Amino acid sequence: MMTKKNSDVKNGKTKKAGPFDGSKVWMDGEFVDYSDANIPINSHSLHYGLGAFEGIRCYETLKGGSAIFRLKEHIDRLYYSCHILQINDIPFSKEEIFNAVIELVKINKFKGCYIRPIVYIGDEGGLGIFIKKYDVKVAISAWVWGAYLGEEALKSGIRAKVSSYARFHVNTFMGMSKSTGQYINSILAKKEVVNAGYDEAIMLDTSGFVCEASGENIFIYSDGYIKTPPLSSVLPGITRNSAIEIIQNEMKIPVKEERITRDELYIANEVFLTGTAAEVTPVREIDDRKIGKGKAGDVTLELQDIFFKIVKGQNKKYEKWLTKV
Ligand SMILES: Cc1ncc(COP(=O)(O)O)c(C=O)c1O
Repeated sequence: MMTKKNSDVKNGKTKKAGPFDGSKVWMDGEFVDYSDANIPINSHSLHYGLGAFEGIRCYETLKGGSAIFRLKEHIDRLYYSCHILQINDIPFSKEEIFNAVIELVKINKFKGCYIRPIVYIGDEGGLGIFIKKYDVKVAISAWVWGAYLGEEALKSGIRAKVSSYARFHVNTFMGMSKSTGQYINSILAKKEVVNAGYDEAIMLDTSGFVCEASGENIFIYSDGYIKTPPLSSVLPGITRNSAIEIIQNEMKIPVKEERITRDELYIANEVFLTGTAAEVTPVREIDDRKIGKGKAGDVTLELQDIFFKIVKGQNKKYEKWLTKV
C-alpha cells in the first residue's frame, strides 16, 4: 500500500513516487524541488531532440568526503557539444555550471551520486524545425545511481551482442556531440539485445567496423596491446581517455586507436567497456562466443582496480582528476 510519504496527490490524482522525488534540481540558476522542475510541453528540444547533456559521477572518497570525477572535462564537453549543435548563447558560464554542480551535490547531501546537466531549448521560438530564437535553458539534476550494469557485471563481466542497428554515419549525426536526440539509436540497439537476453549492445559503424556500445566505449586486449576504435566514430568518452592514460602510464601496455573488426572482438584475449555510468565493465561473451576464458580478464580487472582507487581518492598522482565537494 502506498503511504502518504511516497506518493504525491495532485488534482485529486495520486502520483506514484519516482526515483528522483525528494531531490533538488538546479534550474536556470535556482535550486527547486524535483517536482517543480518542469519544462513547457512545447519545448523545442522535447519535440525534435536538439539538446546536449552530460553524465558525471561523484564518488564517496575513503577519507569520508566526496569528489566529482573529471568535472572540468565534462563541462568542457557539454560546451563543445552545444557548439557542434549550434546551440550558442548558453546563459551561464562554464564556471557557473561547474559551481552549480558542486552546490547541487552539497544541497542534496549526496555522498556518491550521478549528475546530469542538460542544455535544451524552451518554447519561446515556436515549434518550427527552423526557429530564429533559441531560448537556451540549463538544468542539472542528480541522484544516487549504483553500478549501471549491476555489481555482478563489474566482477564477472557481461554478455554482449552486436546489434542489427548500425551506429549513425559521421555525416548523419555528429558523434562528438553528446546530444540528446541521437540516443534513439542507442535505445533501439539496447532494447533489441536486452529483449534477446543479453546485457549490452555493441554497435558497428555503417562500414561494419566496431564502434562502441550503447552507452560505453569499447576496448580489446590482445597479446600485449590494447586497442580501441579511433575518435572518428565514437563519443570521446572521458572514461575512455582516463583508461588510455592509466593503461599507458601505470600498466605500461601500448594502446592503439585503430579500427576493430567484429571477428577481432571474438578472438581477443579480453574485451571491456568504459563509461561514466558503466565505469570499467568486463565483457565475457559476445554473440554467444566466449571471450578469452569466458570470464572477466586480468588486465581488465587490474585497470578497474586502479580506476576505482583513483575515483575514491586513493591515488595521489591522479588527484588532479578529482574536484572535492
Ligand atoms: C554512446 C556513448 N559512448 C561512450 C560513452 C562513455 O563516455 P564517458 O566515459 O564520457 O561517460 C557514453 C556515455 O556517456 C555514451 O553514451
